Amino acid sequence: MYLENNVLTQGKAGNPVTWIDSYRVVKNCEIGRGTKIFNYVNMYGCKLGENCMVGCFVEIQKGVKIGNSVRIQSHSFLCEGVKIGNNVFIGHGVIFSNDRYPSINTWHNKTYVIEETIIEDNVSIGNNVTLLPGIRIGEEALVGAGCMVTKDVPPGARVFGNPGRII
Ligand SMILES: CC(C)(COP(=O)(O)OP(=O)(O)OC[C@H]1O[C@@H](n2cnc3c(N)ncnc32)[C@H](O)[C@@H]1OP(=O)(O)O)[C@@H](O)C(=O)NCCC(=O)NCCS
Repeated sequence: MYLENNVLTQGKAGNPVTWIDSYRVVKNCEIGRGTKIFNYVNMYGCKLGENCMVGCFVEIQKGVKIGNSVRIQSHSFLCEGVKIGNNVFIGHGVIFSNDRYPSINTWHNKTYVIEETIIEDNVSIGNNVTLLPGIRIGEEALVGAGCMVTKDVPPGARVFGNPGRII
């Protein structure tokens, strides 16, 4: 177990306490009441709301902001620049991106450009979805399993395929 410098909102009467499983690294995070973090999670410098769930083998990088009642299934990767609203479902193995033209040189020089990804309230993202950098997914939208999301998804839309198309 490794916990360092986190702000954990403790449970009050009638609410379950924040619960973090034994084998994971959580550092410099703000974590809301009732949130559960399962084994082999790596998260640092991020903010997670109340009553969320983070499944096994998830990584959440610094600066990520996540609202309340968000479920992040196992094996997903949330990079710097990701902002997620409330009541969002993130399936297994969902990969977010922030660097459109990745290069080892820009990583060495720290000259890479991070593009923000916004996931609005009540969105559902199926298993094994990849989102390119700078995407906004509108409220209530649904992204089908295995989709490569290359463009913004309007509120309420259903999108699937590679590249993602609205159906
Ligand atoms: C996108 C989705 C919501 C569509 O469901 P649906 O409306 O019931 O669609 P259907 O099963 O009737 O399929 C309609 C057509 O779309 C295709 N299709 C369905 N889902 C697809 C997907 N994710 N990617 C590509 N094609 C898909 C079907 O093959 C079918 O094609 P056809 O008309 O040529 O036969 C659903 O398939 C999906 O991906 N759900 C997410 C599942 C998931 O990841 N859950 C996570 C928790 S386990």
